[in-house]
Amino acid sequence: MANAHPAPRDFTVLGIETSCDETAVSVVRGRPGVPGDIRSNLVLSQFDDHAPYGGVVPEIAARAHIDHLDSLVAAALREADMPLGDVDAVAATAGPGLVGGLMVGLVTGKALAFAAKKPFVAVNHLEAHALTARLVAATPFPYLVLLVSGGHSQLLEARGVGEYRLLGTTLDDAVGEAFDKTAKLMGLGYPGGPHVEKWALKGNATRFDLPRPMKGRAGADFSFAGLKTALRQTVTKLVPLTRTDLADAAASFQMAVADTIEDRTRNAMQMMRDANGLSDILPIVVAGGVASNKALRARLETLALAEGFTLIAPPLPLCTDNAAMIAWAGIERLALGHTDSLATGPRARWPLADLDMHP
Ligand code: KG4
Ligand code: ZN
Repeated sequence: MANAHPAPRDFTVLGIETSCDETAVSVVRGRPGVPGDIRSNLVLSQFDDHAPYGGVVPEIAARAHIDHLDSLVAAALREADMPLGDVDAVAATAGPGLVGGLMVGLVTGKALAFAAKKPFVAVNHLEAHALTARLVAATPFPYLVLLVSGGHSQLLEARGVGEYRLLGTTLDDAVGEAFDKTAKLMGLGYPGGPHVEKWALKGNATRFDLPRPMKGRAGADFSFAGLKTALRQTVTKLVPLTRTDLADAAASFQMAVADTIEDRTRNAMQMMRDANGLSDILPIVVAGGVASNKALRARLETLALAEGFTLIAPPLPLCTDNAAMIAWAGIERLALGHTDSLATGPRARWPLADLDMHP
């Protein structure tokens, strides 16, 4: 007798990520509900190209993607030991991000899909970060996502593939951007987060009384501009800075950021509980480069324990920008019968609320 519900099958997807300053290609095999098998996951960072400017230069990023993407695709397929013809689909980031870079990844992804006569999936970069929780563990919906990177600071409730509720976002700078600008101001190097963290280890976090923007307010929005300005004023008064000044400023800044994120995340947890009426333990997943900050991770561990959440912190290479998350988002969408036209264009802005889930 025919089975009305055929067993779910595995999909193999080639993923491409070029939305910012990482050129990344990955091959992942798997199916929703089971952690994925990462066959290859290559990331070429452009840190050195952008370091002299203290931030990402869009034109330099787009050129670097053009220079490296083709050979990275070949290397990712080779490492996965798979010809292009064996993949089930090609997925590429279509936004949000820098349009020049997005175009490079999209054109390449669509050309590969066309040549191999395979479906194409246009992936939203934010959704890919959010779904990474399901690539690394069998995380059921709903769960809370804290995305803290150089380009984004968001708290989201993931309800299903293509279904997200934005609980909070930044009103000005992203948190990673605040780390980068602070490090630049103090002359600590680029990207700033790891430098600030290293200096903070030796510093006194209570020496400077910096603001905790939005702390104590309703909702889960962030703001970092005021903190950045307060730090600039503090540092300017101290010039020339001693090593102790630098360490104390880094520690005070990091503590202010951790306090703010903890406060905002606590509110988001409450919003999620209110909406779901759930008393079970819920997962909270962190994503984005700032999630590698150990002081912040420790804070979130304690908060999660106190609020009845379990913290899922994917391994670092899957927290920062990568293509395994793009391939995985492709698998999740493909499994629901969703593919995209080869006419799909890049979207510099693409809020998660605008995701289209119609097959
Ligand atoms: O996710 P990501 O690799 O790229 C995107 O922005 O999408 O994040 C990079 C950001 C940079 O702003 C960097 O300074 C920050 O993450 N970052 C950190 C740490 N490591 C990276 N911020 C604080 N502490 C860190 N250890
Ligand atoms: Zn990202």
